[in-house]
Amino acid sequence: MRTDLITAFAIHQWLQEVEPDLAAQWPLEVDNQIKGIVQQVQNFVPDFAPQIAAQHAVAKTVIEHWGLTDVALFSGGTPSPLSPDPDQLRFYSDISPEVVAEAAAAGYKAKQVDVTKVDDLKKLDGATTAIATGLVLFLPDPAIKKLFNNLEDADFDTFVFNQVRAGEAGGAADLYAKMGITLYTRDRSDIESLIPEGWSFEMIQPMSDLLRQAPLGAHFAGLVNRADVYKAVRR
Ligand SMILES: C[S@@+](CC[C@H](N)C(=O)[O-])C[C@H]1O[C@@H](n2cnc3c(N)ncnc32)[C@H](O)[C@@H]1O
Repeated sequence: MRTDLITAFAIHQWLQEVEPDLAAQWPLEVDNQIKGIVQQVQNFVPDFAPQIAAQHAVAKTVIEHWGLTDVALFSGGTPSPLSPDPDQLRFYSDISPEVVAEAAAAGYKAKQVDVTKVDDLKKLDGATTAIATGLVLFLPDPAIKKLFNNLEDADFDTFVFNQVRAGEAGGAADLYAKMGITLYTRDRSDIESLIPEGWSFEMIQPMSDLLRQAPLGAHFAGLVNRADVYKAVRR
């Protein structure tokens, strides 16, 4: 199951409402199963589409507003008009070969990377900052701890990610569970307990606040905050 297509279809629908010209430039094709899942999630979580669009827009926003360079995007999912531009990234990566092919076709230097494998992270030559949105929600605690250790071993010094707050996934958690996918929601204290010695948080910002600075910031003005964006740095 390509979870990125669930979120991509929701983002496309949201863009059709708020920026139809941008949506028209993005020829996204998904099957009826994906469309049905998005419809079901939206029945349980009415603001799913703007929340997911906001999450996807985090990478470009932090690159531009926090001045991040030498960036590798992890778990990018299929590229959208809200993704960073190709010249803002050293690498666009994902575990899925289909995503990697789509990113390469869109002009990115794309690599297949499983973030749980240190040898994969070492393939991202010259990248020192990693950004991952919509990823840690799917990772159990030990995988997050291991990811920080892997980042260190692969010479990354900065990791930016978002995390949905405890209980804020709403009915989406039950629907994903029916597909065999566990969603792990976490508060700030939960995240703080997971970072290993040598790492600290330089910035923690509610996602809705951050997104007001995004390219489509006006459309995120009324966003209910359900997630935080973390910038972890290695001391
Ligand atoms: C929900 S999508 C998020 C896409 C995009 N980052 C966003 O915020 O809209 C999750 C993505 O994580 C990728 N993924 C899952 N496990 C991964 C892993 N171990 N390493 C790298 N990518 C992974 C999936 O292939 C998928 O593209």
